[in-house]
Amino acid sequence: MSITKMSHLGRLEGKIAIITGGGLGLGQGIAEKFVHEGARVLVFELNAANGEAVASSLNASGDADNALFFEGDVTNISHWQSAVKTCVEKFGGLDIVVNNAGVVHNAQASYDVPESEFERIMKINVSPLYHSAKAVHPWFKKQGRGVFVNISSISAPRPRPNLVW
Ligand SMILES: NC(=O)c1ccc[n+]([C@@H]2O[C@H](COP(=O)([O-])OP(=O)(O)OC[C@H]3O[C@@H](n4cnc5c(N)ncnc54)[C@H](O)[C@@H]3O)[C@@H](O)[C@H]2O)c1
Repeated sequence: MSITKMSHLGRLEGKIAIITGGGLGLGQGIAEKFVHEGARVLVFELNAANGEAVASSLNASGDADNALFFEGDVTNISHWQSAVKTCVEKFGGLDIVVNNAGVVHNAQASYDVPESEFERIMKINVSPLYHSAKAVHPWFKKQGRGVFVNISSISAPRPRPNLVW
């Protein structure tokens, strides 16, 4: 069943969220589900065409103010600081950060993964957890609450051959 045909339970009514990598795949689905449940979302995405398309389609399917595209790189702390500022200025707050943007390496043995590839994985998949905590913490502390949702993989608790990193 498509998300638009599912009943609206309003479980995120009034919430404001940043969804990283919201222009494609799981992040797009998370952004759609959040809006469907009553949240407003900032789509924090590197790929401008995809990020714009997701935000416009979310605005076209409901209130014009449901979604905002923010072009940025989750590995860059200053982009995080701008994303939080934009979110608070546009939507009036921030309640939830979904750290979803991530990449994988080609399936191969750990010792065959090039060092540059290992570093890329760590930079894109791990450093945003640190940057988001630093950038978002002042706002969450001010309002006395806030939620981080960090998307990982079943390969994390149960590493598979050739997909360890
Ligand atoms: N798809 C799966 O089967 C699967 C399985 C396990 C875990 N995951 C995890 O789920 C998350 C999403 O996976 P997916 O398959 O939807 O990925 P995807 O490749 O379909 O989408 C990732 C999105 O993140 C964006 N992105 C990448 N680097 C970015 C950066 N530096 N700054 C901002 N945006 C960036 C991309 O442009 C893209 O829109 C990832 O963290 C991935 O590791 C996915």
